[in-house]
Amino acid sequence: MTLKLTLFGSTHKGADDIAHRLPQPDDTVTASLAFGGVEDLATEIESSRPDLLVVELPALGVDELARVESALARSPATAMVLMTGDRSPEYLLRAMRAGVREIVPVPVAGDELKTAYGRQLERAMAARGIERKARVLAFLPAKGGSGSTFVATNLAYALAMRGKRVALIDMNLHSGDAVLFLTEGKPTRTIADLARESARFDATFVESAMMQVGENLWVLPAPDTPEGPMDVTPDAVGSIVSFARTRFDFVLLDMGRILDAPSVRALDQAEALYVTLQLTLPFLHDAKRLLALLATLGYERDKLHMIVNRWEKGGEITSGDVQKSLGVPVDLEVPNSFAAVAHSINHGIPILNSAPRDPVSKALLVLADRLAPQTAERKRGWFGR
Ligand SMILES: Nc1ncnc2c1ncn2[C@@H]1O[C@H](COP(=O)(O)OP(=O)(O)OP(=O)(O)O)[C@@H](O)[C@H]1O
Ligand SMILES: [Mg+2]
Repeated sequence: MTLKLTLFGSTHKGADDIAHRLPQPDDTVTASLAFGGVEDLATEIESSRPDLLVVELPALGVDELARVESALARSPATAMVLMTGDRSPEYLLRAMRAGVREIVPVPVAGDELKTAYGRQLERAMAARGIERKARVLAFLPAKGGSGSTFVATNLAYALAMRGKRVALIDMNLHSGDAVLFLTEGKPTRTIADLARESARFDATFVESAMMQVGENLWVLPAPDTPEGPMDVTPDAVGSIVSFARTRFDFVLLDMGRILDAPSVRALDQAEALYVTLQLTLPFLHDAKRLLALLATLGYERDKLHMIVNRWEKGGEITSGDVQKSLGVPVDLEVPNSFAAVAHSINHGIPILNSAPRDPVSKALLVLADRLAPQTAERKRGWFGR
């Protein structure tokens, strides 16, 4: 079952411009373009009965709005977002009375259109009973400084770039710093603040507690006070992850080195556990210990994957050795690239943005492609399909 979306402008180009302002839809949405005058819009509503309709038309007269109203009355499930240059309160009121769900003033300020569209899209999905069920992926360092947070945050960014809605949850409750890898902005709420309100949880509440750090990308930061972690109970973590799953396509868990009860509750929902290590003996040693612990905790072997970070050509230990000695496949080799990685982290800019051609960026894209394949059609854009 998919959601029908129509973008309507006075001209084909107008409709196409709307498409360019919106994030590319995923497979749950079938999008089409339409254009013309009010009569064409009314016919489009009555014949295609879209779930969601984004319209940009010059201000409509009283009769024209009445025509839209009668069309919307015949297709009650259609949520219409109207972009309009007429900001007079009278006009906005008349449009709302005609059944327009949301109005976005033109010229569009900031993310106003995207936000209105996102809100109506989520509502329409809920109304149609289309539930997202995010893939939950966990990232664990074999030992401190392996680069696990760097990989998790940058992979989150890469998946968001592909139009996926992504949430990164910082489960490093005592010293998490994931948010720094993605933005210089200061978070206002952390997972501890959210956990304290667990009695009020629902999916919207959980999502709105997160910090949006980019298009399609949200972070739930780690506690910022020493007592914060104590409020993050296993039950709270369990429901945060469950609710997040209904709002995002991917939920990435940035794990710390200590697997305490809250961490385990988060890991329980992960379909895959990625352990990051480097190619030296101490890392191999700690990876072995971690894998043994994960086995004791009951995580099946086929959920486990290794990521070799700071890989260099000609090293004494190879990924093949890791695979042989740990019995777990190495999914990815991320090259060593000190300057580019340090620059990205120091400025809170994902490396795919600060150094897209760096070998590290290329490696991360390989994993993103595997997790969210970008078909040739998709690459062509909105209406390639
Ligand atoms: N591919 C890379 N090339 C060069 N340097 C890297 C690379 N990946 C990570 N680093 C460096 O390693 C440091 C540690 O990375 P990160 O914080 O992601 O590790 P971690 O495994 O999450 O550690 P912790 O156990 O503290 O959570 C970073 O500050 C960065 O400078
Ligand atoms: Mg880390």
